[in-house]
Amino acid sequence: MKVIKSVDELREYVAGLNGSIGLVPTMGALHEGHMSLIKRAVSESKNVIVSIFVNPTQFLPDEDLHKYPRKEEADIKICELCGASAVFMPSADDMYFENEPCVIAPPKFASILEGKTRPGHFDGVLRVLTKLFNLTKANRAYFGKKDAQQLLIVKNMVKTMFLNIEIIACEIIRESDGLALSSRNAYLKEIDKCNALRLSRSLFNASNMIKNGETDAAKIKESMLNTLEPLEVDYVAIVDREFNEISNIKLTDTIILVAAKVGNTRLIDNIWI
Ligand code: PAJ
Repeated sequence: MKVIKSVDELREYVAGLNGSIGLVPTMGALHEGHMSLIKRAVSESKNVIVSIFVNPTQFLPDEDLHKYPRKEEADIKICELCGASAVFMPSADDMYFENEPCVIAPPKFASILEGKTRPGHFDGVLRVLTKLFNLTKANRAYFGKKDAQQLLIVKNMVKTMFLNIEIIACEIIRESDGLALSSRNAYLKEIDKCNALRLSRSLFNASNMIKNGETDAAKIKESMLNTLEPLEVDYVAIVDREFNEISNIKLTDTIILVAAKVGNTRLIDNIWI
């Protein structure tokens, strides 16, 4: 496996590749969620490039850019074990220029939920992904349903900007107790862990209510808020696959999302119905 640390080196590497290219964009501190994406990519693409870049443009000024977990050596080993062909770990100076065109995610999708709390976040995500898609010339890129809104916004960019890349959505990987894996779980103190489980529990309860015939979104939300009770809840939302709020559950076209603070750590989770 090749470890590539500059844009020039990546261009040279990509120019020499034959066969399909799969890209797995990440910010590192890799866990089994990321590994599932890499393994899926390896099973479908001849060459798999994993990018590891803590992208400064998607963090708000008061967010955790500087303390975001960085585990370079371990991450390289994980990529190699999963069968990736290359890891791309550029510096911010190499990726960004002083003068660049603006990339603005459509407000309809990017100003609600995550985008409401984190204005500008999705602009930064699209900005870095545009660069990564262009540099790697990937045929497919792999994203987790864990970041459902990100997935929708990326798919929208690919469709509307006529990009030649297929976006593959991968299932959420969870701990055996239900907690969705996240690099930010590393911030959780032992005492927070029980409370962190409230997010997945609220979603599983919602899913059970639906299995038992409940279709009223307001009732489901109310029950979720009870489960989440002691936490500082940012949002509980019930939307269709286009992220329109819905008041009645539509089977196979509903996503239930939650964001809440556990201690000082903001966690998100969701379930696709
Ligand atoms: P990061 O948070 O590192 O996540 C990289 C990819 O892993 C995303 O597609 C995310 O949805 C997926 N992922 C994270 N946890 C997962 C889980 N428990 N199960 C399945 N997939 C999971 O998302 C980003 O980085 C950045 O915004 C990025 C797209 C790299 C742009 O900078």
